[in-house]
Amino acid sequence: MTAPASATTPFDVTEIRKDFPILNDASRTRPLSYLDSAATSQKPAVVLKAMQDYYIHANANVHRGVHELGDAATSRFEHARHRVARFLNADPRGLIFVRNTTEALNLVATGIARQGGLMSSDRVVLSVLEHHSNIVPWQLERSTHGFAIEAIPLLPDGSLDMAAARKLLAPPTKILSITYQSNVLGIVTPLRELIDMAHEAGILVAVDGAQRVPHARVDLKELNCDFFAMSGHKLYGPMGSGVLWGKPELLSSMSPFLGGGSMIDTVTFERTTWAELPQKFEAGTPDVAAAVGLAAACDYIDSLSYEAMENYESSLMQHLVQMLDSLPFIEVYGPEDRTQIVGAVSFNVQGVHAHDVGTICDRHGVAIRVGHHCCQPLMRHLGVPATARASVAVYVTHDDIDALQEALEDVAAIFARVIAPYSPATPEHRHA
Ligand code: ALA
Repeated sequence: MTAPASATTPFDVTEIRKDFPILNDASRTRPLSYLDSAATSQKPAVVLKAMQDYYIHANANVHRGVHELGDAATSRFEHARHRVARFLNADPRGLIFVRNTTEALNLVATGIARQGGLMSSDRVVLSVLEHHSNIVPWQLERSTHGFAIEAIPLLPDGSLDMAAARKLLAPPTKILSITYQSNVLGIVTPLRELIDMAHEAGILVAVDGAQRVPHARVDLKELNCDFFAMSGHKLYGPMGSGVLWGKPELLSSMSPFLGGGSMIDTVTFERTTWAELPQKFEAGTPDVAAAVGLAAACDYIDSLSYEAMENYESSLMQHLVQMLDSLPFIEVYGPEDRTQIVGAVSFNVQGVHAHDVGTICDRHGVAIRVGHHCCQPLMRHLGVPATARASVAVYVTHDDIDALQEALEDVAAIFARVIAPYSPATPEHRHA
């Protein structure tokens, strides 16, 4: 089986795959079905070329040089800032280059708490869907500032309990920090509704957008969140590229995150004053090539069009989830309405540890992620130590999904005696 009957392929995936050198690596001796783009995406040649071009033609330190190369590097870095800001429809003054989403969320938590924005009487609200990168930074600040942390609980299918959210988005909550799309379940959170609810109660909203931007256009003016964190490496950009965007008036009143060169105005041993935005949050020599590469990734995505990507990826997800649901020994986690599973799907082979599943898939050349996905509270909600996760991207083909099916049938054959008590699967063996 290949694509479901309803699937359409509005762009030519064969052509797209030619853009990604790693998918055409002649030195490989095994096939590759890369279904782990939620961990990191592969990079198109245009991104690699932009980075190499920067090093060949413009490498120097930024915001310092009086020489030609210094100007060229600064110009490419600032061009990258404006390009990424345009991609997100955001004010470039609030766009800070960081290494990844984790660093962006640490910046927000530290910047607000250190400035006195979080006191012992305050509360920060997260959700049970969160990645550790949106839990631990708040806990680190809590250890100094003593505020409370609470998580919006989930309904059994993994979606947010919005009645509980409404109760939590009230005094003494000061911050809601929440994912836009779960890296485990693929669920998209009702962010507009949450942001409106939070703002009505005077609560600031920080968004972990790492898993959303690779799959859907994000318009920050329309979204109206206060802070937005994302990684470039999941968006066909380089490792080490990431963004924290914040409303400039909020960033201006926050404490710097890292101290050092570039982020200062004047320094004496008595007192230091800060540079204007965004330099205030960009201490030290930045990864200019990563920023340039991320800007090239934005160009690449715009050349494909998000709409075409979304249509194609939704046909892949439909095929993927239907295939998993058709295998009686598989348990899929997430909403019964499978159209709500976007980008990534988690599952287990009943009675078999996810690591064994991942290892056998690898023997078939199928790369998936297994483990707790940096979401231990969510694993506790699901009642499992780990899941296997398959995720899609523009270069994934329907044949890759067929390869995963073959690999999973091999898992079932190898572990037949372990799986037997679960087969044939009955509705009570599955939980949403
Ligand atoms: N956060 C990344 C993932 O979900 C690494 O795989």
